[in-house]
Amino acid sequence: MSIYQIIYGKVVAKLNEKIKRTHYCGQLRESDVGSEVGLMGWIQTRRDLGGIIFLDLRDRSGICQVVINPEHSEAFEIAEEIRSEYVVAVKGKVALRPEENVNPKIPTGFVEIICEQLVILNKSKTPPFPIEDNINVDESVRLKYRYLDLRRPRMLNNILFRNRVNKAIRDFLAENGFIEVETPMLTRSTPEGARDYLVPSRVNPGSFYALPQSPQLFKQILMVAGIERYYQIARCFRDEDLRADRQPEFTQLDMEMSFVEVDDVISLNEKLIKYIVEQASGRKVDIPFRRLTYKEAMEKYGTDKPDLRFGMEMVNVSDIASQSDFKVFADAVKDGGIVKGINIQKGGQIFSRRQIDELVEKAKELGSKGMAWINLTPEGVKSPIAKFFTEDKMNELLVRMDAKTNDLLIFMADTDANKVLSTMGQMRLHLGKTLGLMKKDALEFLWVTEFPLLEYSEEEKRFVAMHHPFTSPMDEDIPLLDQDPSRVRAKAYDIVLNGTELGGGSIRIHSSSLQQKMFEVLGFTEERAKSNFGFLLQAFEYGTPPHGGIAYGLDRMVMLLQGLDSIRDCIAFPKTQNAMCLMTGAPAEVEPRQLRDLHLKVTI
Ligand code: AMO
Ligand code: AMP
Repeated sequence: MSIYQIIYGKVVAKLNEKIKRTHYCGQLRESDVGSEVGLMGWIQTRRDLGGIIFLDLRDRSGICQVVINPEHSEAFEIAEEIRSEYVVAVKGKVALRPEENVNPKIPTGFVEIICEQLVILNKSKTPPFPIEDNINVDESVRLKYRYLDLRRPRMLNNILFRNRVNKAIRDFLAENGFIEVETPMLTRSTPEGARDYLVPSRVNPGSFYALPQSPQLFKQILMVAGIERYYQIARCFRDEDLRADRQPEFTQLDMEMSFVEVDDVISLNEKLIKYIVEQASGRKVDIPFRRLTYKEAMEKYGTDKPDLRFGMEMVNVSDIASQSDFKVFADAVKDGGIVKGINIQKGGQIFSRRQIDELVEKAKELGSKGMAWINLTPEGVKSPIAKFFTEDKMNELLVRMDAKTNDLLIFMADTDANKVLSTMGQMRLHLGKTLGLMKKDALEFLWVTEFPLLEYSEEEKRFVAMHHPFTSPMDEDIPLLDQDPSRVRAKAYDIVLNGTELGGGSIRIHSSSLQQKMFEVLGFTEERAKSNFGFLLQAFEYGTPPHGGIAYGLDRMVMLLQGLDSIRDCIAFPKTQNAMCLMTGAPAEVEPRQLRDLHLKVTI
């Protein structure tokens, strides 16, 4: 070997002396003091304290402090050049921080890395917003630079949490005999539901696929196929108006089971939810969850998704109210309506007279004709309607409302019972919010059961399925399909968390004759049923097991369990309220050639 080769070899060896990652930034603790470590990550901050440079180095696991002393002149020169979000590799020794530099707020706050070697792996432009949690920046900017937004600890934490939820789901369901099966994204458009996203077929001119609104029909066919227990973390697409808890493209945890009844599905799912919450967030959940029938939920809370984080149930006082001289009450009941009341405990102490008037205004804003109230002060009843009640009737009313001193009772009356329920339900939520009763960290799960099978659509002048056309009626209500379809209850259930619908499902119809009857009630001709759902009806003719299932909005589940205000914060790449992706610019125009291939013409 020549001298030249030896020298050259050494130079190459030095150049190749790449820093190897040995640890993650957030892992380092006092027990690592003295170890030689290699770290890689992004520069959170660089502080130049005259002659000594501090870098906060960040990776997925957290942040640690790197100290560059001028005696390492090579590293020091590089450090002077470094800016926020540069990607670097650091080699150095872990040391205890001097006492005055200890930061007990972060897990690595007792140690620092004394840098021996520093390499810039990549530079970064100045980011449009700082990579930290409490920033005041418009969501549109965050969505445009989503890759930077996702670097922020809060967003990363949501992604990590979601990953734990997914893992818990897969672990639990695998353990319980469920098989994960994927179903098509390009499928056929079927009526009844939200608007479809359509995909034109190039090879079949004039024909369209629809993106699935849910894997509903496929999962039922998988039951015919003998899969018995299916699940999928499935992407669904619905072209509907968006809200804080709705996306055009969202994810369902979708499940289906054979040979089950309502209680089987519910009890397995309670165990599943308990497992998910405990595994993903370490919080305890008590099962079984509370249950209300649809009718009870509507009567007590005026909604099919009651928020049970607080009480304030509605009480029916129609009978007592109708015996008063207050015409509004008496007439409402006489004409088939109702009078409902809510007891705001200690409300008399909370609300001033002016604030009570504001509540009356709020009631009118919500659509009520008015709102009567009784304040049970320590001096006795104060109320604009007291004069219309005999002492006996007033007492009866107070007992019915379980009124105690200082309670404020509010009442609404209307000839339209549903209007009272819904307005009073909204008033209840308004009160819950105003009084701070909707605790973000509470987890109030609830099953709502026995939904009506059908609802009458004034627009279409026919019955439509409340859940979907494959939902089974309750056995005892089947005869009502002919007599009074509006009274038929379904084997359908929703799971509600803190007043949001988390999921819903049902036991399905598994007999072709009952399914045909259902289509008949829905006003489908035989041909239309055949042309839309023929494949399902045909499958049902080959030995269909009784089956049922449920689907959860997974994004919603993560949102609620994490206490987020928007579903977008737990989706890596969400769409805006206008169904746009601000990062990629979708949807966008396409090349004329692409349209020609698809035999499409844009007419706007
Ligand atoms: P459903 O239509 O009730 O049932 O949907 C199930 C759950 O999906 C969530 N969800 C949404 N989440 C975000 N954005 C949306 N646009 C959106 N739409 C619905 C909700 C809802 O509870 N196939 C049936 C289930 C079954 O019967 O098994 C179905 O899709 O949390
Ligand atoms: P009035 O005689 O119209 O001033 O109403 C007396 C009280 O009854 C007021 O507090 C009204 O807000 C209330 N009130 C009016 N209409 C209704 C209604 N439909 N339900 C409940 N209270 C009402």
